[in-house]
Amino acid sequence: MAFENHTELKDLEPKPRKHFNLIFQDISYSALYYDTQSYSIKTKLILKDISGVFVSKELSVILGPSGSGKSTLLDILAGYKTYKTKDTNNVGYIEINEIKIQDHRVLRKESCYIMQNNLLQELLTVEESLMVAAQLKLGAEYSAKAKRSKISSIADSLSLTSCITTLTQSLSGGQRKRLAIALELLNDPTIIFLDEPTTGLDSSNATQLMSLLRDMAHRGTMIICTLHQPSASLLSKADHLYVLNEGYCTYQGTIPGLVPFLADLGYNCPSNYNPADYVIEVSLEAERMYEQSSNGKLYNINSSLGGNTVFRTIEEKGITSKLFYSTLSTEFS
Ligand SMILES: Nc1ncnc2c1ncn2[C@@H]1O[C@H](COP(=O)(O)OP(=O)(O)OP(=O)(O)O)[C@@H](O)[C@H]1O
Ligand SMILES: [Mg+2]
Repeated sequence: MAFENHTELKDLEPKPRKHFNLIFQDISYSALYYDTQSYSIKTKLILKDISGVFVSKELSVILGPSGSGKSTLLDILAGYKTYKTKDTNNVGYIEINEIKIQDHRVLRKESCYIMQNNLLQELLTVEESLMVAAQLKLGAEYSAKAKRSKISSIADSLSLTSCITTLTQSLSGGQRKRLAIALELLNDPTIIFLDEPTTGLDSSNATQLMSLLRDMAHRGTMIICTLHQPSASLLSKADHLYVLNEGYCTYQGTIPGLVPFLADLGYNCPSNYNPADYVIEVSLEAERMYEQSSNGKLYNINSSLGGNTVFRTIEEKGITSKLFYSTLSTEFS
């Protein structure tokens, strides 16, 4: 099953995007590891029955303390880790516009995953790297001229034009991250996952990258990224926030909705404090937070807040959840 019709791409213009959503329900993930104290194989539960929703045309951010399961969740959503194993009775599922994803290769095909330390071809220039990727990803059906024009428009939008003839090994950290993104943009992915794209960048480079991701998202791509200790201004670039703590979802909703959500639980974020830091600090009380956020579930609307955060988020977008589902599934099929 393909998410979209790929037949008309001759001029290599960005594909027109329809709204779509990615929902995951009751996802658990355990890792097997060798315990050197008991000399036996043990399992560690990393994600604990979490649920959530991401929608297209939004920049979504996953936040949480180190070891909370952010990269694991991204790996699962991108189809690089499977949460269904023989020995676990996992009832969870991932669906796109109400269509359950049975084969995780579909997720891999339609999305791209930019990991923290993406490997680049060090001895090629930026332009050569892009040309090699274009040849491999776009194939022979497009002319060299069409590929060159696509490369130049991507390089332009990612501010790589000034270093187009620089060897990859000589690029700065920010330029390397932007090149990794540029390489993935060539075939116009439907969903882009990024693991800590701003880590290692200075604040102006990080802000520039987040603004760029937001623009790309608003043009139709679904962008989901994890962030490590973002500043308040960096976080404000995002449209949707998903907070994890010890494998539980402790908040899901808009960025402006975070401070009132915490205040409802009795945690008043001081005005001179970064809400991104504050939510991680109060995560010691994660139990109350994940109860209040229903561990990300979509259907539980009985919380004292008059609907859980996702439900409210969907309502804030002006669509009821039922309509939300039916509209999207007809548009996307
Ligand atoms: N194969 C494994 N065996 C044992 N523990 C594992 C395994 N894989 C992951 N973990 C543990 O699962 C937890 C979640 O890991 P994950 O990489 O998803 O965290 P994270 O939120 O991305 O952290 P960071 O912010 O540091 O990148 C960590 O405590 C990690 O040690
Ligand atoms: Mg990680």
